[in-house]
Amino acid sequence: MIIKKIQFLQSVTDWRKCPAATKPEYAFIGRSNVGKSSLVNMLANNKSLAKTSSKPGKTQTINHFIVNDNWYLVDLPGYGFASVSKNMREQWAKYIDNYLIHRENLQVVFVLIDIRLEPQRIDINFINHLGELGIPFSFIFTKADKIGPVKARHNVDLFCKTLLETWEDLPPHFVSSATTAQGKENILDYIEQINNQYYTQES
Ligand code: GTP
Ligand code: MG
Repeated sequence: MIIKKIQFLQSVTDWRKCPAATKPEYAFIGRSNVGKSSLVNMLANNKSLAKTSSKPGKTQTINHFIVNDNWYLVDLPGYGFASVSKNMREQWAKYIDNYLIHRENLQVVFVLIDIRLEPQRIDINFINHLGELGIPFSFIFTKADKIGPVKARHNVDLFCKTLLETWEDLPPHFVSSATTAQGKENILDYIEQINNQYYTQES
């Protein structure tokens, strides 16, 4: 799939104010600064669409974009942002959880993982949390341009191995870079496949 058209729709914190749930939706989540907004921009071929920053905590709301008039892409705030007060973090966790639980058109939550790091407890916990909520997910490893292929392979394998200690099998995963656009085609093709199923079931 190619993104021919993408428009920013709105920024909210209350899932009830999200656009009508009439199109398939895909959300991007992960630790603060992992590269969610950069990935959205890379997929869309538009560097200024989602706001990015070298400082963690840039995205603080649920941001809806509509793609090709056909599906929603959602840029979410990051978890694990230490410099935010506990109270504020709890509020974020609450509205994101509400969004995840109630958004009935949500097809897949893409959990972004920094490929440079060994498995992080906070990511594993979040993935297990999605499992408990029964929400379909997939992973995207980010910033692949920042390490060599051998180390990248090693970290991906280690991450999958760690998850397989608690999960029987794993969903598809992708390796990406916002700088080189690695992973773009595979991620968009995966979304397209699910969109096709969604619209076939509907008709
Ligand atoms: P929050 O909204 O704060 O949760 O962060 P985020 O996950 O949206 O991260 P963002 O896209 O703002 O990127 C954080 C920093 O990482 C920025 O300085 C980006 O330029 C950089 N970055 C993101 N993706 C990549 C990548 O694939 N390669 C490289 N080299 N840098 C990246
Ligand atoms: Mg962001």
